[in-house]
Amino acid sequence: MRLVPITAEDEDLTVRLECDPEMMLHIGGPRPEADVRAAHKRRLDLIQQGEAQMYKVVAEDCDEVLGTIGIWKIDWKGPQTYEMGWFVLPQHQGQGIAAEAARLIISQARSNPEVRYVHAYPAVTNAASNAIARKIGMENQGEFDNEGFAGVLRCNDWCIDLG
Ligand SMILES: CC(C)(COP(=O)(O)OP(=O)(O)OC[C@H]1O[C@@H](n2cnc3c(N)ncnc32)[C@H](O)[C@@H]1OP(=O)(O)O)[C@@H](O)C(=O)NCCC(=O)NCCS
Repeated sequence: MRLVPITAEDEDLTVRLECDPEMMLHIGGPRPEADVRAAHKRRLDLIQQGEAQMYKVVAEDCDEVLGTIGIWKIDWKGPQTYEMGWFVLPQHQGQGIAAEAARLIISQARSNPEVRYVHAYPAVTNAASNAIARKIGMENQGEFDNEGFAGVLRCNDWCIDLG
């Protein structure tokens, strides 16, 4: 697989993922389309400012998009700290794609001195996502109430130290 940087042209892909009830089952449910379009634009700004790296996960042998993955700086956990998130389209799930993409983005992040800690916050109900965090060597620092666009979600705090 290849990680291809997200651009303005991927706004419809973001809508396809984040307005879908199945994809958003463990992330607070589908988001309003206008919110997702605004979020996509904010993410492009963060990418431009060097505060986020976001990619499409694309098949090695063709241009088929399998999903998306990204890391972005968070300011509430101390310096050099990032959050990671992942989506795999339903027809490509269960084939190890998210885990492989996560390993790739972590190995890229290792060569960026700005990135020391990478967290992932899957809901406690999101078995596949928690399995990925465990598989790629993150450590579970425990449950907490995560307040975000979806309200309060009970999440695990997985972390990997790249130092
Ligand atoms: C979470 C998601 C990215 C997983 O993608 P994927 O490519 O199917 O994941 P992988 O195939 O790499 O790995 C899934 C792992 O979870 C495990 N898994 C899947 N469902 C599971 C379940 N119900 N219980 C326990 N483990 C489960 C699989 O067995 C696999 O581990 P294995 O390879 O050791 O068998 C995908 O389901 C998705 O996009 N979900 C919607 C968006 C989302 O929730 N994103 C995460 C937000 S934190």
